[in-house]
Amino acid sequence: MASLTENTLSTKRILVLNGPNLNLLGTREPEIYGSTTLADINNILKLKAKELGADEINFLQSNFEGELVEAIQKARGRYDFILLNAAALTHYSIALRDAIAAIPVPVIEIHLSNIHKREEFRHTSVIAPVCLGQISGFGIDSYVAALEIAIRKLKV
Ligand code: DQA
Repeated sequence: MASLTENTLSTKRILVLNGPNLNLLGTREPEIYGSTTLADINNILKLKAKELGADEINFLQSNFEGELVEAIQKARGRYDFILLNAAALTHYSIALRDAIAAIPVPVIEIHLSNIHKREEFRHTSVIAPVCLGQISGFGIDSYVAALEIAIRKLKV
């Protein structure tokens, strides 16, 4: 419910970015990532965004680090929040980290699986220190929770 202090004038434009191999969701290691496809996740987020009063939500998946870096750079002034599942790039891409640090747009780091419960190389996120926070281990709900938090923050 809208309160008197709620900022209903601010724009709520969300960019959802997905990194390498997430285009394979549905068939990729379903015991870890589930059987939902990325298209299904995006459709769920689209409906949720509408329900929560977002102005716009757009999606990009790329297997290429540079394409994600460019999308982050271009988000400045164009989007109000980024939801990012950087996939394997999470663990080693300083380029992605620097791109996030270079723009004022807040970023929420997302993972379907709990990266801290898995192989040791997944315990490190080089992007975590420049993200607002990390949501890891809740499957599709990691994305939904990130969207809810983003919209809530934009309404304050
Ligand atoms: C992932 C976790 C990463 O370690 C992995 O490389 C991925 C997916 C996740 O959503 O759980 O590709 O980001």
